[in-house]
Amino acid sequence: MNRAAVIAGVGGFVPPRVVTNDELAQRLDTSDTWIRSRTGIAQRHVVEPGTTTSDLAAEAGRRALKNAGADGADLVIVATTTPDRPCPATAPTVATRIGLTDVPAYDVAAVCSGFVYALQAGTAAVTSGFAERVLVIGAESFSTILDPSDRTTSVIFGDGAGAVLLRAGEHDEPGAVRDVHLGSDGAMADLITVRGGGAEERSRGEVPRQEDRYFRMEGKSVFFAAVRRMAESSRTVLARTGWEVADVDRLVGHQANTRILHAVAEQLGLPPERAVLNIDRVGNTSAASIPLALADAMADGLLRAGDRVLLTAFGGGATWGSATLTWPDLPVG
Ligand code: COA
Repeated sequence: MNRAAVIAGVGGFVPPRVVTNDELAQRLDTSDTWIRSRTGIAQRHVVEPGTTTSDLAAEAGRRALKNAGADGADLVIVATTTPDRPCPATAPTVATRIGLTDVPAYDVAAVCSGFVYALQAGTAAVTSGFAERVLVIGAESFSTILDPSDRTTSVIFGDGAGAVLLRAGEHDEPGAVRDVHLGSDGAMADLITVRGGGAEERSRGEVPRQEDRYFRMEGKSVFFAAVRRMAESSRTVLARTGWEVADVDRLVGHQANTRILHAVAEQLGLPPERAVLNIDRVGNTSAASIPLALADAMADGLLRAGDRVLLTAFGGGATWGSATLTWPDLPVG
């Protein structure tokens, strides 16, 4: 591999409407105290009716291009669990709305691991010489698939989008993606699922049931699997990179739950304060979670050029993955 994929710009976007824990407690049997103490979440952003994933993705993509000072990209990858439609993919719509017509564009479906999966695809596209600049976006309007009467999921998820622009560069320059590790286990498909709306339901010829259109999650099982798989995957990618745990300056994990991220840090032997957290402000934004956390960490001054960064995620599928990279010198704003 002669060339590396280097992060050239980062952008994040959340829809303006904020839903606080207290607002949820007005219609669900829950409380601000329970949500904060069990998840770390204080509020989340949600889309207004009529706003979709492509709206959020296009805005995050534009911001990443602006941050990079770039006039375009020659490949667009959108990781999402909430595509605008089951068919076609959302990425071509996003690319066109950003003004990138005629470029290849496709979706990646790996739920909360979606961004790490898409980052691997984008990195491979650059290092293989297929593309010079790749826009990797994670975007979700997750509120559109939540069952409003289900307190176990409604309090956790939020909407938003994050994007990074990858460009061709050198392995030893700040911003270079070093290694990516990915994994999956289809035996865990039922833990995180939307049962209806796909070929499985249609092939049975049954009348679609509204409840099957909603997102369902076995929270407790997911919790333990997420901690285990993120810790294992992190160790694997660190070993491939030749980094010790102590070398990691920032852990930017999928913002599933503050307790999950602290448990991953603890299993790795990493001080919990090295974990970047923005879940308090945005909740779990699934595929958007890591790039949104990167954008927020930049804005908060938590990422400096040369920092050694570990990304890790776990999501439906089940899927999981981790990546190592050094942080580039990027303008904030
Ligand atoms: N408000 C108040 N009480 C709630 C609640 C809510 N929103 N949701 C669940 N509870 C109750 C449960 O009914 C249960 O009550 P019981 O003891 O009387 O039966 C109690 O709180 C504990 O529930 P439990 O599911 O054991 O809580 P938990 O500590 O495991 O936390 C999650 C629940 C969902 C927050 C946690 O399991 C989690 O974060 N899982 C991973 C979620 C995730 O982000 N997945 C995405 C992909 S990684």
